[in-house]
Amino acid sequence: MKRVSRSPINHLGRDVTDKIPLWDDVPGLVKMGERDARIWELVTPYLQTRDNDVHSLYSFSMAAQLCRLYPEADEHIVLPAIIMHDSGWSTVDEETAFQAIAPGRDGTYTWAVIQHEKEGARIAREILEQIDYAPADIDEICAIIDGHDTRLTSLSLNDSLVKDADKLWRITPHGIDVAMPRFGLERAESLRINGIRAYEKVLFTEHAKSMSLAIMAIESMDLSQQMADMQERGRANVTTTEW
Ligand SMILES: [Fe+2]
Ligand SMILES: [Fe+2]
Repeated sequence: MKRVSRSPINHLGRDVTDKIPLWDDVPGLVKMGERDARIWELVTPYLQTRDNDVHSLYSFSMAAQLCRLYPEADEHIVLPAIIMHDSGWSTVDEETAFQAIAPGRDGTYTWAVIQHEKEGARIAREILEQIDYAPADIDEICAIIDGHDTRLTSLSLNDSLVKDADKLWRITPHGIDVAMPRFGLERAESLRINGIRAYEKVLFTEHAKSMSLAIMAIESMDLSQQMADMQERGRANVTTTEW
């Protein structure tokens, strides 16, 4: 991602750094807490296939927002579940995993999808036992992970938030970008193919639907003719995300 270095003095000759609030004082900014950072550290070795580590981070951020919006959900269930949900792909070879998730798949590789869910639940259990998580919480997290893709119904609000956060990733810049080389798509095609798999009717919660519409609106404008025209003219301050 593009990072811009700056001087504390802006073009008006003023230093605005004392106007910048602390990270924790800005509603909506996300940061992993100590518990989740520990889980992340333990599960990272199992997330090295197909960008699953980055996918899990962005899905975590979506889940964290959903937990804010649904305070009645249990963040100590939702957040560990989303961090570890795809760890089971580490037990499936990459080519098989691609076949299993490709658009237009015919079900031949459904066994691999089920394997990643079951193995993910097993890995999550091992990690949670290692950090002395409460047994009932471990059972709930593992039940959510086991079936998170193939179970089309939701077990609970906690399960709904995990499922929605997982799907919302598809329309993030990273989700769109990784699908392009993977399936031979242009960016706009990738947005469309991922968008139809993360739009309001396939999401469980109302807040996730709103988040999906907002993200898709931004992605749509990034891909619009008007934005392309401005970039072609070398218009300053056209800051679409650069990955
Ligand atoms: Fe998955
Ligand atoms: Fe996932």
